[in-house]
Amino acid sequence: MDSLTPHARGTDLDKTAALARRYGADAIPPAGPWNDTIALLLEHRSVRGYKPDPLPAGTVETLIAAAQSAATSSNMQWWSAVAITDPAKKKVLAEIAGGQKHIEQCPLFIAWVADMSRNARISQAEKTEFECMPYLETFMVAAIDAALAAQNAVVAAQSLGLGTVYIGAMRNDPVRVAELLGLPPQAVVVVGLCVGHATEKGVGEVKPRLPQATVLHVEHYDSTHEAAERQTYDTEMTKFSQRNEMQAATWTQRVLGRLGPIKSMGGREKMRAALEKMGFEFR
Ligand SMILES: Cc1cc2nc3c(=O)[nH]c(=O)nc-3n(C[C@H](O)[C@H](O)[C@H](O)COP(=O)(O)O)c2cc1C
Repeated sequence: MDSLTPHARGTDLDKTAALARRYGADAIPPAGPWNDTIALLLEHRSVRGYKPDPLPAGTVETLIAAAQSAATSSNMQWWSAVAITDPAKKKVLAEIAGGQKHIEQCPLFIAWVADMSRNARISQAEKTEFECMPYLETFMVAAIDAALAAQNAVVAAQSLGLGTVYIGAMRNDPVRVAELLGLPPQAVVVVGLCVGHATEKGVGEVKPRLPQATVLHVEHYDSTHEAAERQTYDTEMTKFSQRNEMQAATWTQRVLGRLGPIKSMGGREKMRAALEKMGFEFR
């Protein structure tokens, strides 16, 4: 059994243990049905340390088949993926991402592209103006499609015992990433993904999430107890951070640090201008 294979599957005891890892022992929600797929999902954790071992032949094709099996808005399939193994390219991508070493370490990096260029080419080839293209709504659909595809690949990789971590920092400089990967206009990498065999240290602990009551609203939205629930989560995340030798900040402090100062956007505050430069329009 490799280190990313779920510890436990199937039984009620396993279910409770998995929920405790995800929410903390004091906030276990009363979940119902359970199976191996759900156990696998609850075991997700990002991996930031990779062995150099190559992936079995055909892995990228398997992951893309899983990605293409995701739902896609109106079957328009508004996404593409660029598979990158070239160390020189990964070095540049790591630099764009602020020096994230796992991009260089992982044997496979997949760039997930919100790709409106294919439909632009169809418009040209079929000599038909696509009136629906230059809208924010259409861009959103492309970004959603790309994210759903990527997440299917993440789950597939996890089921094969492989580790992954998303790299949103591709959006620090989307123009430079597009140039490096030779993307046409109206195509942008919305997120990258490291894939590989995790080192022992690279596999972190399952990271607790907000209490379910904070995110699950029944029939109508209700944030009455949110502040108290956030305190519970802050306590849980402080314990998690201490166990994992991270800066022992509460989750609230992390939110303040991430959303307070504009510098934490790492250049992404200029996203709209960058996308317009890349041929997108947002009517
Ligand atoms: C869209 C997106 C972008 C992300 N970008 C990065 C990134 O650039 N670098 C990184 O180390 N982790 C990145 N992550 C991983 C998150 O930090 C991680 O999912 C989160 O802290 C929860 O931890 P877990 O995945 O281990 O449960 C990203 C995740 C998502 C969904």
